[in-house]
Formats: sequence, structure tokens, C-alpha cells
Amino acid sequence: MTKVSALTSFRERITRSSKLKKSRIVLSLDPTPRPELKKFVINSINQLQRHICAVKLNFHLILPFSKSDLTEINDLAHKYGLESIADIKLNDIPNTNHITIHYLLEMGFDAVIVNPFMGKAALKSAVQQTHAKNCGVIALTYMSHPGAEDCYGADVLDHRTRRIISMYKLFLAMAIDARVDGIIVGATQADILKEVSNTKRIPIFSPGIGIQGGKIDIAIKNGIDFFIVGRSIVASSNPVKEAKKFQQLTASL
Ligand code: XMP
Repeated sequence: MTKVSALTSFRERITRSSKLKKSRIVLSLDPTPRPELKKFVINSINQLQRHICAVKLNFHLILPFSKSDLTEINDLAHKYGLESIADIKLNDIPNTNHITIHYLLEMGFDAVIVNPFMGKAALKSAVQQTHAKNCGVIALTYMSHPGAEDCYGADVLDHRTRRIISMYKLFLAMAIDARVDGIIVGATQADILKEVSNTKRIPIFSPGIGIQGGKIDIAIKNGIDFFIVGRSIVASSNPVKEAKKFQQLTASL
């Protein structure tokens, strides 16, 4: 099955999906290990598709599946007009990244989350490869978990300017320069979000709402474009009700 319109870019498609669904929620399909994993994923997409604009499959969900399973899941997402994001935080040499991205796009993923630690040239190469197929790259800028400051907040020497700069600022500059399609800043990082949203020229995707402690009202004020929500929806006793609640809270943006 082809995407809703394979001729548009990932950025255009997710914006359009978000408008049509009146939702800025990227559903993070993160079930705990269970016997009927695919059935769970398929049921979740069927039940929740009206309240979300995209799905995000993490590495730990991709691992147990075959190529045909993943193609089937991505086809279902596309049938509902949803985008599908592979969250593997890719960070390798360009040749390996290239082969990995090739497989992910072949299986129908629309975008790949990468770690800019791979360096400027490798990041640009990943962007060029995905853009050639009308897909996209989303780059980590500041993660959501406790301890993220150990790396993302560390001061480093920018070897080009010989200036000391925070790692996340370096990552942001690299992401803008490489023309990525989105950056990731955790909803738990309110000050960083405020700072990045004041200077950003690319959409912000933000995980960390709910169980990780990020507050949706603060996140909304801080300029997030897309909210990545997992356990607060998928692990709740009423996922549809929760998804609807998040959809309504963010719809007015
Ligand atoms: P929860 O259950 O906390 O799930 O809503 C969040 C999802 O997002 C992933 N995650 C991140 N992904 N950068 C990312 O690319 C981050 O900073 C980050 N923080 C959380 C997490 O693995 C889960 O899938």
C-alpha cells in the first residue's frame, strides 16, 4: 500500500494529518512484552487512530517483528492517514546508517529518529537519503529522562569555532544546518524547551508528558508542535478516553 500521498514530504504529511485529525499526539506504541504483540499494536492503532496524527515504534517494539509484520503495521497506519516514525535513535557510521534507513523506509516508515552525535556529515547524509524518498529525520536535541543533563547539558568545545558550548546547543545548530524535519526536546526540560522554541526553525517533538513527569500545560506554553505520548495512553485502563483527553488538550494550539 502507498502512503496517503507519497509525493509530499514527511513534514507536509504530518502537518496535514495533524490538521485532519485535530491532534498533535504522536502515539508511542510501547507495550510491555506479551504473547500477542502484533494483535495489540494493530488493535491500538484501530482504536486510537481518530485521536492521533502519527505512531512511533520504538526499537524494543521493532525488534521482535519481521519485515512483513512491520510493513503490515505501517500500511495500517497509512490507511488511516497516520505517519509512522521509527524511534531507533540511530547513531552509526554513514554506511551502516544508510543500510538501516534503507530497510526502515522499505518497510514503510516515514521518519527516523537519529542521534546527532554521529556528526554533521553523517546527519546530512541521513537527511538527504530520507528526503530523496519523501521521508524525514528527527534529531535528538535534549532527552527527557533524569540524567539527560549528563550528556545533553555538558559543556563541549565546538572544534569549528573554538568556543565552549552546551551539547544540546551544538546538536540544535547541527540539526538546523542539516535541514532535519524535527527535533526532540523532552517535555521535562521546561527551560530548554522555552529557549529552543524561541530560536527554533523546525518542529519540536516532545516526549515525557505524564509518567515521566512532564506537565502538558507547561509544555503547551513552551512551544511544542507534537507531543509524543506512550504509557499514559497505552498502559491506561481506558486508552481511547486518555487519547481523546490529550487530543482535546492540545487541539487548540
Ligand atoms: P512515555 O511512556 O514516557 O513514552 O510517554 C515516551 C516514549 O518516547 C521515548 N522517549 C524518547 N524518545 N527522545 C526520544 O527520541 C527522548 O528524549 C525520549 N524520551 C522518551 C521513550 O523511549 C518512549 O518510547
